[in-house]
Amino acid sequence: MLKLEDVRENPQVASLLQRVQENLKTMGKITHDEKHAHHVGNLSYHILKVLGYSQREAELAAIAGYLHDIGNAINRYDHGRTGALLAFHILMKMGMPPEEVATVIAAIGNHEERSGYTVSNVAAAVILADKSNVHRSRVHKGDPATFTTRDRVNYAATKSFLDVDPEKREIIMHLEIDTSICSVMEYFEIFLTKMLLCRRAANFLNCRFGLVINGTRFL
Ligand SMILES: [Fe+2]
Ligand SMILES: [Fe+2]
Repeated sequence: MLKLEDVRENPQVASLLQRVQENLKTMGKITHDEKHAHHVGNLSYHILKVLGYSQREAELAAIAGYLHDIGNAINRYDHGRTGALLAFHILMKMGMPPEEVATVIAAIGNHEERSGYTVSNVAAAVILADKSNVHRSRVHKGDPATFTTRDRVNYAATKSFLDVDPEKREIIMHLEIDTSICSVMEYFEIFLTKMLLCRRAANFLNCRFGLVINGTRFL
């Protein structure tokens, strides 16, 4: 059975991810490098494992999480859909059973705020893992004068992690932000749709979604 390691070692995947990183850097967007792919893959796996879903479903979430942004190699716009098609070709060629490929591409094709919908456990895990990856290290612009609001919000985030509690059925996002760089209000301005998507994803997994910023519970 195809595992995340097999996908990671695929040279086609490596060159596409390299292209994603270059394209978004050229566009001045926050980083979507291999580190982000890694983070989302590992966290998607962790979410389903901790909540007691099957090993295979967690592995599929890891693969979908690792590949979720691959469509940026083509264009930022609609990268969820183009990424799903790229993943389809790669995974079919690698011999993944079509029903598993279908699960992975549905998750990739539904991770964007604009058109994303939690269609499965795997899709829910990828949404939660991706949308919670807010961190200073993702801003590669050196000059704060050129920061967009999204850059500023990411730059202000000094710590972020998801706490998944299977007993309480809660998924809590903890965020530390430097409010001298960005106010909590600005965080919501930019991230409200992401947080709503996370809430729906958590509900799909029969969990409540919570948000704690600088120690204060907001959701
Ligand atoms: Fe994305
Ligand atoms: Fe992403």
